[in-house]
Amino acid sequence: MPVTREELVRAAATYGTPLYVYDAESISVQYQKLVRSFSNTDTRFFYAAKALTNLSILKHILAIGCSIDCSSINEVKLALKAGFSPDKILYTSNSVAFSEILEAVSLGVSVTIDSLSNLEKFAATYGSSYPIGVRLRPNIMAGGNVKISTGHAGSKFGIPVEQLPGLEQLVNTHQLQLRTLHIHTGSEIADASVFVKGVQLLLELATRFLTVSVIDLGGGFKVPYRPEEKETDLDELSQAIEHAFSEFEKNTGRRLQVWFEPGKFLVAQAGYLLATVTVIKPTETICFAGVDSGLNHLIRPMFYDAYHHISNLSNPEGPLGAYQVTGNVCETDDFAIARMLPELREGDLIAFHTAGAYGFEMASSYNARFRPAEVLIKQGQLHLIRRRESMEDLLALQISIE
Ligand code: LLP
Repeated sequence: MPVTREELVRAAATYGTPLYVYDAESISVQYQKLVRSFSNTDTRFFYAAKALTNLSILKHILAIGCSIDCSSINEVKLALKAGFSPDKILYTSNSVAFSEILEAVSLGVSVTIDSLSNLEKFAATYGSSYPIGVRLRPNIMAGGNVKISTGHAGSKFGIPVEQLPGLEQLVNTHQLQLRTLHIHTGSEIADASVFVKGVQLLLELATRFLTVSVIDLGGGFKVPYRPEEKETDLDELSQAIEHAFSEFEKNTGRRLQVWFEPGKFLVAQAGYLLATVTVIKPTETICFAGVDSGLNHLIRPMFYDAYHHISNLSNPEGPLGAYQVTGNVCETDDFAIARMLPELREGDLIAFHTAGAYGFEMASSYNARFRPAEVLIKQGQLHLIRRRESMEDLLALQISIE
């Protein structure tokens, strides 16, 4: 059962706004979709923690049987704190100081390296004693927009495929246990054929690296942000993958495992940002609706031109009008322009949908405003999983000198 309007209204009445609300059930449902679709291949899913790192969310992810992908050593530490054992933790590094990789190895987690420079340091330190993954840049353009596209020829991520000879030389010289070949080409990849292209490339490479037993295709499954949008077709993708992997097995006698690192797919739709309309400002051409939030709480509309569906929870049947829904930060922070919504009135409670991924996680205390509280709805119960920031929190790290 999706979260109801009543539950959202109750959460706002109990904890105030702005408020992030997440639905545990929705995360479970999304995970089950993945498990079901890929039941015919040997597949593991690692939740891309960067989308939302609240410990109670991580614990829920662990409880439903999912592993976890971390993009910083601190995310690895959060995952350990949430109870993930090192064999369920993947650390996908990019541009990190080698000291982070040393630390990750000392914690016993799986490590993916994305530059020849760090791989060289890794080889000199560990040789063949620790399995390793490498992230490749396949030079494929994919994803919702260029800011979230990571596999193209101008992207900082991964070892460019044209540097393959350098990779082969390092692997062979140091007899590296190259276990995983990884790509992540972007976020919001609607077209399953993009993954298939990546699979073809990695399987071809796997024939050149005989120690490879895992193909990691990263995250990036599309979720519907707009009502008319669709998720990535998982069945189409899983069939293509099953076919490619069984052909590979037939030809080489090697059975490979597939890994995915979904972030948005698991948590985007589970989350809502609730806000209160603070000011209605009609002008000759535009009716502004200011709310008690802004780019400091949900930056995706301003940073990526991302669409977030908005509903007026207080007046769902009101007459439709066009609104420019804006934040209260001293910046141009429009959530939506010329959006048709049921009449917004000062004091109305609104919900930004599909805000679970990269919502709270990218929030800040810009303008000295507090980051919102977070609530998790589990089996009909509201659980406060992070309290609202306070003035004391904002001052806690400052050292005031005369
Ligand atoms: N794996 C790797 C190596 C990644 O870099 C990412 C996302 C993921 C997995 C998860 O991708 P997802 O399934 O969530 O699309 N802040 C942006 C998205 C940035 C994604 C960064 N990397 C947004 O709000 O659209």
